[in-house]
Formats: sequence, structure tokens, C-alpha cells
Amino acid sequence: MALLDLIKHRKSVRDFLDRPVEREKIMMCLEAARLAPSESNSQPWRFVVVDDKQLKDKLCDAAFSNIYWINSFCKTAPVIVVVISEKSKFLARIGGIFRGIKYYLIDIGIAGEHFVLEAEDLGLGTCWIGWFNERAVKSILNIPQHKKIDNLIALGYYNREKLGPEHSREPIEKIASFNSY
Ligand SMILES: Cc1cc2nc3c(=O)[nH]c(=O)nc-3n(C[C@H](O)[C@H](O)[C@H](O)COP(=O)(O)O)c2cc1C
Repeated sequence: MALLDLIKHRKSVRDFLDRPVEREKIMMCLEAARLAPSESNSQPWRFVVVDDKQLKDKLCDAAFSNIYWINSFCKTAPVIVVVISEKSKFLARIGGIFRGIKYYLIDIGIAGEHFVLEAEDLGLGTCWIGWFNERAVKSILNIPQHKKIDNLIALGYYNREKLGPEHSREPIEKIASFNSY
């Protein structure tokens, strides 16, 4: 699919089919993420893929209970990807301090979206998840306490017909201009 068509095609999926995702496809998504650009080529990311059903169920129960219940739909996803930021290169951190920008978060976002778009190209659905019990996820997956889990990505097959209408987005005139603000 042409890239713009693929981007138009992608939507957040919140209802997954009960069908496992092939490891080869997950590896292709990880490869797409691995090749993402990053400040000073820092590559400040780590992905923990949870595709073992028992572990994934346990993870979802813990991650999406109580105040996080709104994301309980993730329980239907056969795969949860945990995206963790690792330490950036010295140069990127210094540059970030001077510029007042957390470059590593930009890097994480690009890598995550590479993952998501590759998944879409493979016929898989995804949903970025920012609201979850981080402490519980760390504990279940042996992620050191001092690490930061930036987001999760729910991944799996889905029924496209069940997805909602077109994207709701601001018009181009409102978000972009040529040659002046
Ligand atoms: C960083 C980030 C965090 C998000 N967190 C959640 C979340 O916790 N739960 C959820 O259902 N959707 C979450 N989303 C999905 C957005 O709600 C969704 O992308 C947006 O509404 C646009 O819809 P679309 O992805 O279908 O185009 C998140 C998206 C991003 C980029």
C-alpha cells in the first residue's frame, strides 16, 4: 500500500480477534521500530513483547484495574508491547537540556509509530496505550523500578468492519502554513 493510504487506513483498534499473532510479524514490526531515527542516533528504547497468553492476561488484569479500567479492552489483544525509554546518548541529553526538549520522547514516539505502521501494513491492528498501572507492569515483567515505561501498544488481528468512521482531525489550514506562522 502507498504510505499515505496506509496512514489513512490506520485507526486505533479496541476490539481484537481471538487469534494469535505470528512471531515473524511481530519481528517485522520490531525491525521497523529498530530502524527509526533518533537524536544523535541514541536509540533510547527497549520493547518488551508479551505474547504468552497466561502472562498477557495476568499483565492486563494488573495494568488495567481500578482507575485504569477504561483500557480493559486491551484484554482482548493477543499481544501487548511495553515501550521503555533507555538512557539517551550524552550528546542528546546535553542538547536536550540546552533546548529544553526531551528528545528521547520524540525518539520513542517515532519508533512506536514505525511499529504501528508496519503492523498496519501486515494487516494487524494496534492501539497506543498511555493510561495503565506502570508499577504493576514493571513488577510482572521484571522491569527495574528506575526505568520509565512510556507507553504500551496493544497488537492483534481485528475486524475492520467494526471500526468507527473516518478520522476526526483538524483541517490542514488550521495546522500548517507556508512561509510564515
Ligand atoms: C501517546 C498516546 C497515548 C494513547 N493512550 C490511549 C489510551 O490509553 N487508551 C486508548 O484507548 N487510546 C489511547 N490512544 C489512542 C488515541 O486515543 C487515538 O490515537 C486518537 O483518538 C485518534 O484516533 P485514531 O488512532 O483512531 O486515529 C493514545 C494515543 C497516543 C498517541
